[in-house]
Amino acid sequence: MTRDSRPPAGPDSESTSASPDAIDVSRRTFLKGAGITIAAVGVSGSQAIASSPPAGTAETAVLGPGPMSIGLTLNGKTTQLEAEPSHTLLDTLRNNAGLTGAKRVCDRGSCGACTVIVDGLAVNSCSMLAIDVMGKTVTTVEGLATGDKLTPLQEAFVDCDALQCGFCTPGMVVACTALLEKNPTPTRDDVRKGLAGNICRCGTYQNIFEAVEKATKGKKGARRANF
Ligand code: FES
Ligand code: FES
Repeated sequence: MTRDSRPPAGPDSESTSASPDAIDVSRRTFLKGAGITIAAVGVSGSQAIASSPPAGTAETAVLGPGPMSIGLTLNGKTTQLEAEPSHTLLDTLRNNAGLTGAKRVCDRGSCGACTVIVDGLAVNSCSMLAIDVMGKTVTTVEGLATGDKLTPLQEAFVDCDALQCGFCTPGMVVACTALLEKNPTPTRDDVRKGLAGNICRCGTYQNIFEAVEKATKGKKGARRANF
């Protein structure tokens, strides 16, 4: 029921003229319906966990609550990860895939230490479910270098001393990589905006900005491999 279709409150309204039993049944029915609606809103699209398929429709596959297989492209390789539908992408990468570059710091989407790239976008992996990357392409900081050969951006981080404790550094490098994929020649302001979701407790921002500028110097329309 929308706000506009709700019957007016008052002595003549339906709710006051109905018997107490009718009101009780009506409230129970409403709460039951609301519960189903909330459950449906709480899960996403085709990955919804259907506990009560509507009458007359084919039964929807139930995912979880135990571990399930999630297929994705992880750091360039076709991969199957085992994770429960309630597990975050960060936990799954760290605990199930052995990729510990993304760090758990705030665990609530406010520091960027857990940044990974999903289909070209920098995301906070602590705030995304692993099930939501099914069929997608995920790149972590481990997927940037080729063997021992660092990317120019990683080398620039080293050359510019763009880290102190280094805890934020994987997230910073990944966020900068995502930025440079979209904008190969960012201004200082673009870099500031691109890193707005990443916090460095040591305050190494100046050196990080210099590292990005060093990595992009003289580049025009460069591709990701060049960063
Ligand atoms: S640990 Fe994910 S944003 Fe801080
Ligand atoms: S280098 Fe220590 S948090 Fe950034």
